[in-house]
Amino acid sequence: MGLYNMSSAPLSSSFYMHAFILLLWCGLLVTFVVGGNNETDRLALLELKAKITDDPLQVMSSWNDSIHVCQWRGVTCGRRHQRVVVLDLQSSKLVGSISPHVGNLSFLKNLILSNNSFQNEIPPEIGYLRRLQSLSLYNNTLSRKIPGNISGCTNLKYIHFGHNLLDGEIPTTLGTLSKLQFFSFRKNNLIGSIPPSFGNLSSLVLFSTLYNNLGGSIPTSFGQLRKLTIFNVGENRLSGIIPPSIFNLSSLKEFDLGTNQIQGHLPSDIGITLPNIEFLSIAFNQFIGPIPISISNASNLKVLEFTGNKLRGRVPSLEKLHRVSFFVMALNELGNGGANDLSFLCSLTNATYLTTLEINFNNFGGELPKCIFNFTTTLIKFILNNNKISGNIPIGIGNLTNLESLDMGNNKLSGHIPFEIGKLHKLQYLDLSANNFFGNIPSSLGNLTSLITLYLDDNNLQGSIPLSLGKCENVIDLSLAKNNLNGTISYQVIGLSFSPISLDLSANKFTGVLPTEVGNLKNLEYLDISENMLFGNFPTSLGSCVKLESLAMRSNFFQGVIPSSLESLRGLQLLDLSKNNFSGNIPKFLESFIFLELLNLSYNNFDGEVPTNGVFKNISATVIKGNSNLCGGMPKFDLPICKYNRPKKRKLTLSLKLIISILSGLLGVTLVLNLLHHGASKSFIAECEALRNIRHRNLVKVFTACSGVDYQGHDFKALVYEFMTNGNLDEWLHPISRTNEVPEVQMNLNFLQRLNIAIDVANALEYLHHHCHTPIVHCDLKPSNVLLDDEMIGHVGDFGLARFLREATQEHFTNQSSSFGLRGTIGYAPPEYGIGNEVSINGDVYSYGILLLEMFTGKRPTNNIFKDNLNLHDFVKGALPEQMINIVDPIILWEREDMETRTNDTHIQNQVGSPKILECLILIFGIGVSCSVESPRERMNISDVVAQLHLIRDNLLRTRRRQE
Ligand SMILES: *[C@@H]1O[C@H](CO)[C@@H](O)[C@H](O)[C@H]1NC(C)=O
Ligand SMILES: *[C@@H]1O[C@H](CO)[C@@H](O)[C@H](O)[C@H]1NC(C)=O
Ligand SMILES: *[C@@H]1O[C@H](CO)[C@@H](O)[C@H](O)[C@H]1NC(C)=O
Ligand SMILES: *[C@@H]1O[C@H](CO)[C@@H](O)[C@H](O)[C@H]1NC(C)=O
Repeated sequence: MGLYNMSSAPLSSSFYMHAFILLLWCGLLVTFVVGGNNETDRLALLELKAKITDDPLQVMSSWNDSIHVCQWRGVTCGRRHQRVVVLDLQSSKLVGSISPHVGNLSFLKNLILSNNSFQNEIPPEIGYLRRLQSLSLYNNTLSRKIPGNISGCTNLKYIHFGHNLLDGEIPTTLGTLSKLQFFSFRKNNLIGSIPPSFGNLSSLVLFSTLYNNLGGSIPTSFGQLRKLTIFNVGENRLSGIIPPSIFNLSSLKEFDLGTNQIQGHLPSDIGITLPNIEFLSIAFNQFIGPIPISISNASNLKVLEFTGNKLRGRVPSLEKLHRVSFFVMALNELGNGGANDLSFLCSLTNATYLTTLEINFNNFGGELPKCIFNFTTTLIKFILNNNKISGNIPIGIGNLTNLESLDMGNNKLSGHIPFEIGKLHKLQYLDLSANNFFGNIPSSLGNLTSLITLYLDDNNLQGSIPLSLGKCENVIDLSLAKNNLNGTISYQVIGLSFSPISLDLSANKFTGVLPTEVGNLKNLEYLDISENMLFGNFPTSLGSCVKLESLAMRSNFFQGVIPSSLESLRGLQLLDLSKNNFSGNIPKFLESFIFLELLNLSYNNFDGEVPTNGVFKNISATVIKGNSNLCGGMPKFDLPICKYNRPKKRKLTLSLKLIISILSGLLGVTLVLNLLHHGASKSFIAECEALRNIRHRNLVKVFTACSGVDYQGHDFKALVYEFMTNGNLDEWLHPISRTNEVPEVQMNLNFLQRLNIAIDVANALEYLHHHCHTPIVHCDLKPSNVLLDDEMIGHVGDFGLARFLREATQEHFTNQSSSFGLRGTIGYAPPEYGIGNEVSINGDVYSYGILLLEMFTGKRPTNNIFKDNLNLHDFVKGALPEQMINIVDPIILWEREDMETRTNDTHIQNQVGSPKILECLILIFGIGVSCSVESPRERMNISDVVAQLHLIRDNLLRTRRRQE
């Protein structure tokens, strides 16, 4: 045997030669080596290999006859007998099943196949491996039952079957594996109960069945396991109570019962009987009673999970828990709702490893103690929501500089949101919703550049959205709903460089139009701007937000038709446009929105036929009431049958014909030829004659026109107007400059008078722009051209610069004649006239906007303060809404104070001094600003202005009536 036989082996056997050299080289004394190739092992391993269907790392390529079995990758042989004692193929990306021939590797001590993709059953033949000590099949896809005859492996110390798909029950026979120390089945689908026989495994250190479907109760026999250190049965369906003897297992370090249906109290001496405990979870069970005072004695505790039980009463001092890092007790009934409920927090100031503190959904009352100033900066999550915590947020919160989540939502907190929150620059989640916070949103929130979620909804916050918030680029979920926030959405929010998925600004006092840029919010899935004071058209660009699932614009002053671009929002599940002034037909394309579950178009001015397919079939999913001119639809809507009218033809030829017929009737044919000749100037008299026939309540009547040569020999042209007893608006707005006297009270226009006149002027313009046979541009709208009759009704006069327009295309107007070189008055003329653009109705809207701003600020656009690029438009825009009070014509404010001091009649005070007027002013200024934007195309349409102003007035008068 031995060396001799070895050396006499045929040289042709490269294997022997190789082994011999290797062994000599290793300096080993070779005595028992030769003849060691046990054929059984070789064959068994080849059978194992044969069941491997995929081996991307080529682990098994060494498993061939050219080398000795003991040198095959993953194989270790016993030194003396050259039998396979270890097969370790962990993390080899192997796919296949485990061959039953594994049972022939009879010297095997360790079988390690973890982190592969072995599937099908665990072969029962493993039970033949008497010498097996360690069996790790962790993290494969093994299924079916655990073979009971594994109990044949009587030397087993370590079983890890975790992360597989095993089902059936835990075989009771495994309770005979008396040497077993480590037993884990975590993450399988095991059913049945924990066999009491395991109580016999006196060496057991670890027992884990986490994440299975085990029922029944924990066997009392487990109380005998004096070495048990880790007992982990969380995420099953265990019930009953914990056998008291288990709480006496002083060896326990990790005790996890989380997410079962276990009942009972925590024993009062738990902190004494479990002195080594580091991890204790009873989360999501049915424990009742208090958290025992002794818990603080378990000073090794790092993790305490008490969430989701029925624990109640005071939380005891935790002052000895210096090592605790994770303490969660949400969803209990802890606290008495009283003043000192949160004093236990101060006992945690020496817990310098604390990262997570969750006490949400309890009954905690009282104030947040100031000691949070001394909390460890390691704190990452501080979750307090849904309690009854009152008082202010202590400014010490600013010390917790590593906080990533701060949730105080749904408490009774009040005061200002402390500026110091801005120091928490790692914050990703901030929820202060449903409290009583007031004051402004602190601009320091702009420092929270990691913020992803920000909920400030349901408070009493006021002012506008701080522009600094634009630095929070990562915010994807923002809710500011249900506050008293104001200002425009355009500049304050949409301009932010973020791309939210959810944006809720509902139930505030935002005003202005929704800007085109809303279309840049490409990730938007949820948008709610309901219950504000927004106006203008439905922004066409919203059609670019193709991920939208919920769009709510309810209760605003929006108007106009639903644009066809909306057709791209095919993912919409909810579309609520109710309580606005939308008009036109209900788009038929909504029929094809297959996800639409609720379509609310109620209380608008929609007309025409209601479609009958898609969502319209479902009369509980479609709400259309409050639109008086709808017809058709499903019979249950009970609407009249549609009568089809011929669509109106709005052709150029038609309107030209009309002009021709009007003018020729008046003036004869020459003029008509001139008019038709493009670019030809019309005679002054012709224009005047036409104007003479234009009649409107808010236009000054033109009696006649004359033209001639004056006494100095100059041509003169004149219009003869109706006389107005109260002079012009300019005199009323600027009484000081007119008379150089102290303004008399009687000379002032009050708020309502100004609003009425503003509406009169808008009516007149609307008539000129939209209701004459051909649009007329006034070209010189300004206060001195607004005359007031004895009832203070406004009449627009001085048509000296008026232009007839023809409708060149359907939406594009240009002037036809340019008989006058002069284009309005400095300050009121739109910027585009200055650069030679043709006059247009948009130019009049600009002048109107300036006039409106002048009427309510009392400042002329030519005031001395407007220089160096500041103009009236920017002046108002910059002040809206917070500084608004500083720009309102002081006479309006005097009027308020005067009324308030003069009378004790509370309802008059309410009328004049009420926030209602301030709201109206914000809206009016919003309109003025929207009319006087630089770009002509972005200005409001005068019809919309009329509609808005009417609404504002109606709303104001309605409020007054209600108060009376
Ligand atoms: C291999 O070992 C087994 C078990 O000890 C034994 O029965 C068998 O005879 C051995 N075979 C060879 C070829 O050595
Ligand atoms: C399971 O094994 C795979 C490799 O097969 C590995 O990527 C994964 O992280 C492992 N999972 C666990 C929970 O250990
Ligand atoms: C924190 O530790 C200091 C020093 O040991 C001690 O004086 C203080 O009382 C401890 N505070 C708490 C709340 O346990
Ligand atoms: C913070 O701790 C220091 C030292 O223990 C103490 O003097 C101070 O009062 C504490 N501050 C608060 C706000 O509790």
